[in-house]
Formats: sequence, C-alpha cells, structure tokens
Amino acid sequence: NTYGVILAGGGGTRFWPLSRQKTPKQLLNLSGKELMVNEAVERMSTVIGKSNIFIVTAESQASSMIRATQGKVFPRNILAEPAARNTTACIGYSAMEIVRKYGDGVMIITPADHYIEDVPALTEILKAAILTAENYDKLVTIGIKPTFPSIGFGYIKYETSAESDVKPVVEFKEKPDEETAKRYVGSGEYVWNSGIFIWKASLVLNKLKEYVPDIYEDFKTIGDSMNTPNEQEVLHKVYPNIRKISIDYAVMEPSAAKGDVLVIIPSDCGWNDVGSWDMMETLHAPDEDGNIIFGDGVAVDTKDTVIYSSSRTVTAVDVENLIIVETPDAIMVCRKDKAQGVKKIVDALNDAG
Ligand code: GDD
Ligand code: MG
Repeated sequence: NTYGVILAGGGGTRFWPLSRQKTPKQLLNLSGKELMVNEAVERMSTVIGKSNIFIVTAESQASSMIRATQGKVFPRNILAEPAARNTTACIGYSAMEIVRKYGDGVMIITPADHYIEDVPALTEILKAAILTAENYDKLVTIGIKPTFPSIGFGYIKYETSAESDVKPVVEFKEKPDEETAKRYVGSGEYVWNSGIFIWKASLVLNKLKEYVPDIYEDFKTIGDSMNTPNEQEVLHKVYPNIRKISIDYAVMEPSAAKGDVLVIIPSDCGWNDVGSWDMMETLHAPDEDGNIIFGDGVAVDTKDTVIYSSSRTVTAVDVENLIIVETPDAIMVCRKDKAQGVKKIVDALNDAG
C-alpha cells in the first residue's frame, strides 16, 4: 500500500500581507489556478488513491483545511497537530498513524509549497521511487539541479558512477552558509534536496529510533494510545513537547554520513520552491516590461515589478524591481531582491504585539 502525506503547517510568513495565520501560504491561490495545497493533492493523485492521501497541518488550521480540500481529501485524513514541532514531528506522526492504523506502507511525503511545471515527469519519478522504497527498503529523495547558490535548501552529493537511475547518497548538507553553497554549485557535484521523500513508514520510524531516540519515544507513546479512547489526550500532552528539528537534520544528514539507506533520483521536472514574492516569476509570465500585475494595478514607465491588488487600485510610476502588495488592511512595498526580508515584518509586528 502507498500513502501520500502533504506537509502543510508552515506559516508562509514571506507572503505577508496575503498570508496570515488564518490563511497561510498553503491556502493561497498563488498560481491563479488552485490553492497551493490542492495543487499538491492533484500531483499526489497521479500515483495515490484518494483515500490514502493525508495532510498534516496545525490544529488551528484544520477546519479551514477541511473546507478547502472538500471532495478531494477525506476529513479523517487531515491530521491535526496540537503544536507546530517542525518536519520530523509531522513525519513521525504520519508514519506512526500509517503503521498503527493501516499496517505498513510506502509514504510519499511532499511539502505544500512547491510548483512543478512538468507533473507527468514527476509522476514517473515517483513511480520509480515507490518501487525502490518498497523492494529495497531505502530512504528515497528526489534531487534537483541547482540554478543558484541558495542557502535555503539542502544539498546532496551522490555517486554519479552508479549505473541505475537510483544513486547512493554520499553527503547531505542542510542549508549551508553562502560560501559553501557557492562551492557546491560551482563544483557541479551537488543537487538540491527537493523536500519530497519516499520511504516505508516502518523504515523512517526505525531511523528516528536510531538517530533521534527521544523523538521516537514520544511517538511510541503516541502510537501506543492510537485506537484507544486516550488517543487525543495523549497526543495533546506529548506533541507540544516534541523536540523541534527538521527531518533534514534529524535523519537525512546522519543517514547520508553513515551511507546506509539513503538514495537519490535526480530529476528534471521543473521544480520550484515558492518561497517568497519574487518567486511569482516562476508562476506567471511577466509582460514585456517585466511586470506581473494581479487585480486592479496600473504600471507606467515601470519595469520588473510585481503589483498585487486585492481591493483597491494600485499604481506605480517610474519604478523598478519592486514588489507592491495591497490587501484590505495592509500594504507592503519591498525591493524584489530583498523579498526574503518580508518575514522580518511579521517578526516585527509580532514583537510589537
Ligand atoms: N504540519 C506541519 N507542521 N508542516 C510543517 C511544519 C510543522 O511543524 N514545519 C514545516 N512544515 C511544512 C511546510 O509548510 C512546508 O510545506 C514543508 O513542511 C517544509 O518546511 P519548510 O519550512 O518549507 O522547509 P524548508 O523549505 O526550509 O527546507 C526543506 O525544503 C527544501 C525544499 O523546498 C528542506 O527539506 C530542504 O532540504 C529542501 O531543500
Ligand atoms: Mg520550504
């Protein structure tokens, strides 16, 4: 059996003021077609039956998530986390759910914050990954050819000499510093970690036991309560105290260092991480002046600028490389090359109470 697990609990604060606590990034329609989470569900549906698609999200977002995915995902398959404890917790929770409630199975784990241009190519890769995970009991990752020295991704080095499409991983480095990222990209020997993982639920639980035994113990407690009347009570007691660490640090790095079960399938499926406003360029073709305008926006003598208007007319004259976003209660203007900094606004607003 194969299960799909969509990780959709992040805040997406770099899309402020459009993304808010109640409407986080995964519930936004950034492509102009579908909510991000539903695009992830659609990609998953090419290889997994509807009843096996799960979404892990924050308890506070669960009801909006159920509404947003109505008819596409069964409400009982929306796993609500009592607290956000990073991706090792999300993955441990869904793996335990699969093992205790359905036996075992291969899980395809995917973030909700991606845009994939070539979905059929991804589908083929996922099929190969499922076979590898099932028949050889490996942790499978999907690698993406890097286009710039991002410090926001994981980097993977693999045995290029391996004859199969599935290559043993020799090194995994999560979020290197800028100098290291430049060296990696320059060497041509590294690919980005796509954040899409394929493995048996039982295998990843074993790896948690090996590399992060404290987290494994927490999930063992949670697992033991599953299918009993105490399930929710135990979940609420244990979950908020689980150590916050991403799966990349908790399992991928040590597993690569040990050279045990980590393999990669390099891919070319037009993968994009939709991390911040400047990434709108990958979702929408700019006009001849390089501008991307949503809603009621007018740009005069303006170049390479994103205008997003949701309720009022937004105009710009003689500016370049800006992002201008208007919502009913907030306006945000920033330099396009500083789009990552939007996160700081949210921090500042939170500090101000
Ligand atoms: N439910 C839930 N709970 N989801 C979460 C939580 C949580 O506590 N924390 C993160 N997520 C979700 C996010 O919404 C996102 O869809 C996904 O898990 C990955 O988390 P990010 O916070 O976006 O990770 P990242 O982008 O910094 O890094 C990861 O993805 C990169 C590719 O996009 C890593 O796997 C990198 O190695 C990888 O290159
Ligand atoms: Mg991300």
